[in-house]
Amino acid sequence: MLKVLGISGSLRDASYNTSLLRAAGELFDADEVDFSIYDGLKAIPPYDEDDDVAGAPEPVTRLREAVAEFDAILFATPEYNSSVPGHLKNALDWVSRPVATNPLRNTPVAVIGASTGMFGAVWAQAVLRKVCAAIGARVLEVELAVGHAHTRIDENGRLIDDNIREQLQDVVNVLVEQTLEAQERAVAA
Ligand SMILES: Cc1cc2nc3c(=O)[nH]c(=O)nc-3n(C[C@H](O)[C@H](O)[C@H](O)COP(=O)(O)O)c2cc1C
Repeated sequence: MLKVLGISGSLRDASYNTSLLRAAGELFDADEVDFSIYDGLKAIPPYDEDDDVAGAPEPVTRLREAVAEFDAILFATPEYNSSVPGHLKNALDWVSRPVATNPLRNTPVAVIGASTGMFGAVWAQAVLRKVCAAIGARVLEVELAVGHAHTRIDENGRLIDDNIREQLQDVVNVLVEQTLEAQERAVAA
């Protein structure tokens, strides 16, 4: 069973990005993939290298262990002022250490995003891909920018746009295929 972790860059309950991850969760083959959404981002403290010497804070350890335990990550991020929300970047800064053995290294990562504006968080997605690549993740060449999210996700958090659902299915398929291929290559090596 493949384990895929969804990480939303939004902390709010009615987040369009978290809704997008929930919609993605319905598109994985449940016999093949165990998909869950990380819920502990809000508890991550600001990165302080002094706190990262002898045992990181517990919420950080939990996040690092979750990233290590899962085979692939699906991020859905909003855009805050043309970039990644600060708390998500901060969480990734924690995950990035120790450099050589950080749990994101070689992990297949797909990035999607939603915003209420027309561009669907494309700049935040680009920044997030760059950050994940810098950390050593295997960033997949997939993209899904959900603009005008309030017209595509209803007040109950349901994705109501079939075209977006098809594109989301493509992202899900690529993530699964490429994660399985990477695992096969690792076994063969
Ligand atoms: C602090 C802040 C900054 C924002 N900056 C942008 C932005 O640069 N570009 C954009 O398209 N939307 C921006 N937005 C609007 C978000 O796209 C919108 O709030 C979206 O619903 C957030 O995602 P969520 O529903 O997953 O929380 C911003 C929102 C906030 C709260």
